[in-house]
Amino acid sequence: MAHPQNLALPVNHRLLLAARPAAIPGPEHFTADSQPARVPAAGEVLLQSVYLSIDPAMRSWMREGTGYQQSIPLGEVMRGGGIARVLESRVEGFVAGDLVQARLGWQTHPTIHGRYLQKLDLALGTAEDWIGPLGLSAVTAYFGLRDIGAMRPNDRVLVSAAAGGVGQIAAQIARIEGCRVAGIAGGTDKCAYVTQQLGAHAVIDYKSEPNLSAAIGRACPDGIDLYFDNVGGATLDAALEHLRQGARVVLCGRISQTHADEPYGVRNLGMLAAARGRMQGFLVFNYHDRYDEARTWLAARRRDGSLQQKLHVLSGLEQAPLGLGMLFRGENTGKLVVRLG
Ligand SMILES: NC(=O)c1ccc[n+]([C@@H]2O[C@H](COP(=O)([O-])OP(=O)(O)OC[C@H]3O[C@@H](n4cnc5c(N)ncnc54)[C@H](OP(=O)(O)O)[C@@H]3O)[C@@H](O)[C@H]2O)c1
Repeated sequence: MAHPQNLALPVNHRLLLAARPAAIPGPEHFTADSQPARVPAAGEVLLQSVYLSIDPAMRSWMREGTGYQQSIPLGEVMRGGGIARVLESRVEGFVAGDLVQARLGWQTHPTIHGRYLQKLDLALGTAEDWIGPLGLSAVTAYFGLRDIGAMRPNDRVLVSAAAGGVGQIAAQIARIEGCRVAGIAGGTDKCAYVTQQLGAHAVIDYKSEPNLSAAIGRACPDGIDLYFDNVGGATLDAALEHLRQGARVVLCGRISQTHADEPYGVRNLGMLAAARGRMQGFLVFNYHDRYDEARTWLAARRRDGSLQQKLHVLSGLEQAPLGLGMLFRGENTGKLVVRLG
């Protein structure tokens, strides 16, 4: 079908994976190109990207080989999820102006098949809510604490990377559910955010603590029932030293190990046995059928004002590679996104 004459095709600006990083990714690993957006075929929509989510997992997709998701071939558009506005639709049920979420890739005007789109329910929240406290980071925190961590009221909960996208929601869910919450974060500003904005009872600035285990002991004087681990490595070992009987350790992420040459050997597994504890990893994608449950709960907490959200917003597609590196340098506070439209 010919493209309607009255609709000029926008230019699609894209960032392609050009090289595989050995350490922290940055602009040198991408090339930019621009071409007319593709006219949607039957069953497709033409989109204008509004927000791109920047996530640590993207670094693993840039590696050669396979992980839990296929590696991105060199020369292809960088993979990533986000929120977009429909410009032109050839899919029943979607019209120009609708806001959707999809795996957009790092491009301004993708053309995508309708089966990969989810229309945003704006009764639940705004586009900013959908990339933030209703987005996948928040949903990860929800299922990690509840299903994997079997969180109970009055649990003593410790959250690492507590000022980040997943961590800020995990700390608040635990607080809302009546737990005593301690956070770990890097730097005074982040630590102030964790106690003053997120309402954690205690916080540890791991960057200024010579002995992390001793600091956890002070922040969690009665020990830990539930450790929500975003960091792995020596932080995990330090937390294991403080487990209470029946403790649960939720392996959400291990960002400290992203660029390690050798896998980290966890030393304190004996503490897990002594506590009759349990340690379990998970991937949020396995909860796909229950995302609505999490979003309904999170949206209600947004409405009643108990759930705060900080978006760390960068502007323009060219900022995305810098943003990805920021995650590994601890330069973001809150959920990191790039705003495009
Ligand atoms: N299991 C799942 O399905 C799933 C889904 C989403 C995310 N995740 C994981 O959840 C974790 C958080 O993801 P996010 O998107 O919310 O990122 P984020 O927490 O917003 O950003 C990453 C943060 O990690 C901290 N960090 C970076 N390098 C570190 C190091 N070497 N040691 C200690 N802390 C370090 C930094 O905070 P500080 O300045 O405080 O150090 C940084 O701001 C990641 O491990 C990610 O892989 C898992």
